[in-house]
Amino acid sequence: MNAQALRKPRISRLEEAQADLHARTQRSRKMAADRSEVINGAMAASGIAPPPIFIADNQGAHFTDLDGNSYLDTCMGFGVHVLGHRPKVVADAIKAQADKGWHFSLRGADQLAYAHRIQAASPTNQRVVLANTGTEATLYAIRAARALTGKTKIALFDISYHGAHDTALVWAAPGSTPEQVVPMTLGHGIPAAVTDDVLLLPYRHPLAIAAIRAQAHELAAILVEPVQGSNPEGDVGPFLAELRAVCDEFGIILIFDEVLTGFRLGYQGAQGKFGIAADISTYGKVAGGGLPIGVVAGKADLMATFGDFTAAKGIFFGGTFSGNPMSIAAGLAALSELQARPDIYAHVDRLTAKVTQGFNAHAEANNYPARIVSCGSMWQVFFQSEALSSFDYAGKEAEGAFYLHCLAQGLFIHATHRCFFSAAHTEADADFVLDVLSQSLAATREDGLI
Ligand SMILES: Cc1ncc(COP(=O)(O)O)c(C=O)c1O
Repeated sequence: MNAQALRKPRISRLEEAQADLHARTQRSRKMAADRSEVINGAMAASGIAPPPIFIADNQGAHFTDLDGNSYLDTCMGFGVHVLGHRPKVVADAIKAQADKGWHFSLRGADQLAYAHRIQAASPTNQRVVLANTGTEATLYAIRAARALTGKTKIALFDISYHGAHDTALVWAAPGSTPEQVVPMTLGHGIPAAVTDDVLLLPYRHPLAIAAIRAQAHELAAILVEPVQGSNPEGDVGPFLAELRAVCDEFGIILIFDEVLTGFRLGYQGAQGKFGIAADISTYGKVAGGGLPIGVVAGKADLMATFGDFTAAKGIFFGGTFSGNPMSIAAGLAALSELQARPDIYAHVDRLTAKVTQGFNAHAEANNYPARIVSCGSMWQVFFQSEALSSFDYAGKEAEGAFYLHCLAQGLFIHATHRCFFSAAHTEADADFVLDVLSQSLAATREDGLI
């Protein structure tokens, strides 16, 4: 080695990856700069921000960015694409519907068949109401519970996500403990009074059940993600059974928010996986086959509230695009395929188990403070060795570097860090994921961040 090389300062693995990505994503960076003058909004990334990337097209389990770089996708439209990107059955249905019209003001011909697909997802899905997003679905489910019971308080759990409406954005304030969950509204612009009508509970904690018992007379409903998107633990059956039991005991409406888990953890979602039925269920994501949808389904007597809003206990609901023919066509095609192909769930679950076991064994053997938590085809890397507790979830610097290394190697993990496998992912893709994850851990350690 000559003297000049010796004098050259060593660049870190992180700087190396950053420089590489920087050079390969020029068009995306220009797009980010131009957009920032017109379009507001960005999702925060933890720690070290990767360069922005814009998608040009996608197919199967991959997408290509504006600069022509290809990535293996683990975000899959925020969990929407169980069948992969642009599956032929859905693409054909969308094209066929486009030839017949894409927005009707009157009710479309496929809605009935679609509602039957929703009915098949839970024994309590006796009646179905169509909306456009998961946000609308949980908003209507909450409104329905309040109308039906004449009570206003809704029990929610910390680190849940139920959409962007006011009640759903009551979260636990930093510093909360299971003994004292302090509610706050996320961001400004939401009246503080909204928190008065929410009982915020520690997730999977005995104190939650105690609090429900103590305030049962005030509660209209318990709204729960049966498996949390932000914390996809798979051993939640006993907890859900406890919720079912306490709701039955006190006559509280149990709402399962299956917007993420519905048709992903199996055709019957979490309800099928854990053998526990909700009173009212909400769906979205997978249920639209890749186009926007929101669905509320439930027991016939409860769903009667969706009718005449001037009648006793009737609520208002609407939506210009609710039940629009494009979403229904895409959703019907996707749900029909998923109903007929249980092998898809066996496949995505197997890939997830392989990556979870492989990664966790590797991390344990090499003393990396990282573990994958997964359920079905939902998985996420957590940078902590101890069991996940809902109040200690926090991004660390190492995480930012880790995910940037993944991206530089062609593995896309969204800033939310939530990952999903699809029918389009192969065994080789799972091996690639495992390889990239371990390389990224090694590079992060080499820089002294782990
Ligand atoms: C469990 C759950 N509920 C509701 C929503 C909101 O759905 P949407 O984004 O379609 O409004 C989401 C979205 O991520 C979700 O994961």
